[in-house]
Amino acid sequence: MRIMIKIAIIGGTGLYDPRILDNVREDKVVTPYGEVNYKVGEYKGKSVAFIPRHGSEHSIPPHLINYRANIWALKKLGVTNIIASTAVGSLNPAMGGGDFVFVDQFLDFTKSRITSFYNGAGRQVVHADVTQPYCPTLRAALIKASKVLGIKAHATGTYVCTEGPRFETPAEIKAYAMLGGDLVGMTNVPEVVLAREAEMCYATVSMVTNFAAGISPHSLTHAEVVETMAANTENIKRLIMATIDLIDLEEDCSCRHALAEYGGFKM
Ligand code: HPA
Repeated sequence: MRIMIKIAIIGGTGLYDPRILDNVREDKVVTPYGEVNYKVGEYKGKSVAFIPRHGSEHSIPPHLINYRANIWALKKLGVTNIIASTAVGSLNPAMGGGDFVFVDQFLDFTKSRITSFYNGAGRQVVHADVTQPYCPTLRAALIKASKVLGIKAHATGTYVCTEGPRFETPAEIKAYAMLGGDLVGMTNVPEVVLAREAEMCYATVSMVTNFAAGISPHSLTHAEVVETMAANTENIKRLIMATIDLIDLEEDCSCRHALAEYGGFKM
């Protein structure tokens, strides 16, 4: 019998290992979209699953991540709360390198991704509500944890999701800024949307690794992203662990009833 794992971390660029957890072991889950390898360990009596979004060797580019398999696998394990980390470029001068942002909105500029578990083939038509795309309860826990730890963080922000894997042109960045974007990244959509369809609480810790193209005084490199993440890894881990400590596993949340109108999420 599988133990119930209620909390998961999806690690983005620069967060590949769950060395923050005790008694870590590896396992896999079979999903209709393929197998998912994950690690699971303990933190203060809570079981926590960990999936490195880009694979353990950072070999899966943003547009080829099997988002549906990852979210389905976590749902199958019994996960109710997902904390996801993302590296982001900043369009907002107030959000500088090394800052954390607990994004509360997104703009979706992806192009080739499957963004729903409900794609015909006998499944009903579902329109998930994303008025509050990121779980307000989990975001509140992240905000509280950052205050307790004294880590500089922005409580809100709009995440622009691009298709990648290339970085953006300065013209694109100018347009996204005019539309109200604060940050740009390549992975949060459809991950956040699939988590909502699967009726799971999901929040993102975005870490600003660079100013976006045309705002940065120099060309963008992956090395800059990785170096800034590496310099802040300890803070990301402390923040996530403190947040896990604050999660009340008995507490209900509207995210868990997101598809009530449709009779709930069906696996
Ligand atoms: N653009 C898109 N994704 C990113 C960036 C960026 O500037 N920095 C880190 N992830």
